[in-house]
Amino acid sequence: MISAVERKIEQFIRDLDDQMVESLYRRLPHGKRLRAKLILRIAGSGLRAVKTAAVVEMIHAASLLHDDVIDDAYVRRKKPSINALYGNKTAIMLGDILYSKGFFELNDIDKRVSKTISNAVTQLSLGELKDVSLSKRFNTDKSQYLQMIYQKTASLIEASAEAAALLAGKAPEPYRIYGRNLGLAFQMIDDLLDITSDSDTLGKPALHDFVEGKTTLPYIYLHEKLEADERAVLSGLHAKKLSSKEQEWIMQRMEKYQIVMQCYSEAKLLIDEAIELMNEAGEAALSDIAQEMIERDF
Ligand code: FPP
Ligand code: MG
Repeated sequence: MISAVERKIEQFIRDLDDQMVESLYRRLPHGKRLRAKLILRIAGSGLRAVKTAAVVEMIHAASLLHDDVIDDAYVRRKKPSINALYGNKTAIMLGDILYSKGFFELNDIDKRVSKTISNAVTQLSLGELKDVSLSKRFNTDKSQYLQMIYQKTASLIEASAEAAALLAGKAPEPYRIYGRNLGLAFQMIDDLLDITSDSDTLGKPALHDFVEGKTTLPYIYLHEKLEADERAVLSGLHAKKLSSKEQEWIMQRMEKYQIVMQCYSEAKLLIDEAIELMNEAGEAALSDIAQEMIERDF
């Protein structure tokens, strides 16, 4: 029933009665609609659930429009980003329009749902700010990284699961934990893919995150494992454009210390916990979504 969510978003956009926004929205490739799927699986496909799912996807799209400006990213979902095509001003304003229209619609759904979702958007913004400030130095503190990814990514997935449970009259707590674990694992896998996926142009990982200054979990673990002299080499490469040799140096050490496996196991633990919780709640159908999360491109 995900098509009902697509139709609802299109209707919200049409309400705005603006040709430019309609045409920009058509240019926006949507992703897997994970958050919407989660909401419908928990709450069914009644009107309030469909509206909540549409609003959450609009907020998520807005956050990515802004994120691509903040990250100077010119590719999103293998296509040129809106900021690449039309510049930063258009990308920011389109984000603001999606976000504010989403909020307007949210007010009509349910007070508890709107509180849950709006609180998560504050967390998203705090998380994005933390991501930017942590990138200024080589962050070696795992708890800071976990808090940042919780805020930046997991908070909206957690809120989606919680809001859906509220709409369905289910006890929210297990759904909240399920959503949080899914969100944390999602971002951990995303950060791993930056190391394991070959870039289209180079045919090997470009290590974009590290070049941008982001010391994600694999770099924190690698830093822990290295001897002092090699640690200094790694720190010296932080936030710099890397030569092929430097990329290989990092990748060789990632392999030597089996960093990818260490991070993957940690994400898998979170997913296993989420699946167990849902099995206990008699929601086996929610296990599939959790499973999909850690099977992305691996
Ligand atoms: C992607 O992170 C970014 C997010 C998940 C959150 C972005 C949040 C904001 C910009 C603040 C909220 C703003 C609004 C309008 C609601 P990433 O850069 O690690 O992932 P990527 O590889 O997908 O770019
Ligand atoms: Mg980004």
